[in-house]
Amino acid sequence: MKIISTVKEMQKISLALKTKGETISFVPTMGFLHKGHLSLIKIAKQQADTVIVSIFVNPTQFGPNEDLDKYPKDFKKDRELCENEGVDYLFYPDVKEIYPENFQTYIELSKLPKYLCGKNRPTHFKGVATVVTKLFNITQPDIAIFGKKDYQQFQIIKQMVKDLHLPIKIIGGEIIREDDGLAMSSRNKYLKSAERESALSLSKSLKLAEDLIKKGETNLLLVREEIKKFIESFPYTEIDYISTVDPQLLTNIDNLPKNGFLLALAVKVGRARLIDNQLIKKES
Ligand code: PAJ
Repeated sequence: MKIISTVKEMQKISLALKTKGETISFVPTMGFLHKGHLSLIKIAKQQADTVIVSIFVNPTQFGPNEDLDKYPKDFKKDRELCENEGVDYLFYPDVKEIYPENFQTYIELSKLPKYLCGKNRPTHFKGVATVVTKLFNITQPDIAIFGKKDYQQFQIIKQMVKDLHLPIKIIGGEIIREDDGLAMSSRNKYLKSAERESALSLSKSLKLAEDLIKKGETNLLLVREEIKKFIESFPYTEIDYISTVDPQLLTNIDNLPKNGFLLALAVKVGRARLIDNQLIKKES
């Protein structure tokens, strides 16, 4: 595996691969890799001749009071994990390389970022869309893989690729969980041991909603109320949102539709802001 730290070199390698007719699959990450990331790399391996992974903690997607400075890092371990998965190139630039002085061009979607996480993180998806576009231009992938754990991010990238006619196939990877149900996340590291049980309130809420729908509940307002009571019964929790939305448009839904809905949750547990989601159908 080669580690590349400059845009120029990465772009040169990618363009040479493409000229040779090789296909490239790409997995962007912010590092501190876990099995969720590795599941995307495994998909990438099956999809193309060459796999590129990036590790870059993107400052433009963090708000002023968020955890940019504290975001967990372990490059040595990440490098080993990538090597073991058979990654061909690890793109690991520093901030100045991606955002040189006088940088001033951003990508912004007009609708999808308004909902869910976008309400309390108003500039987050502008940073994500911008850095992902830059990383696409640097790595020139045919295929890129994103996790459905960040469901809104996944929809935003798909919409952006469509809107900008980018010749890239976007694949979604399923949510990878710990044995007890907690969705894997680099931010789980922030959880103190006393908070760990409360972190399970998210995945347990998805199950609770599924059970309510199976039992015949069609009023999603009531489903959200039940989940609110349930999450509030755990200590250290502070709800950001409990939303039932259209899986494509991400707009609110109050009555159970035939094709189902997305239940999306964001809850602060101690210092960790956790998210989780699930598509729920009457017959799921
Ligand atoms: P990061 O949080 O490191 O996540 C990188 C990729 O891993 C994302 O596509 C995310 O959805 C996926 N992922 C994280 N946890 C997962 C899990 N438990 N199961 C499946 N997939 C999971 O998302 C980002 O970085 C950044 O916003 C990025 C796209 C790299 C742009 O900076």
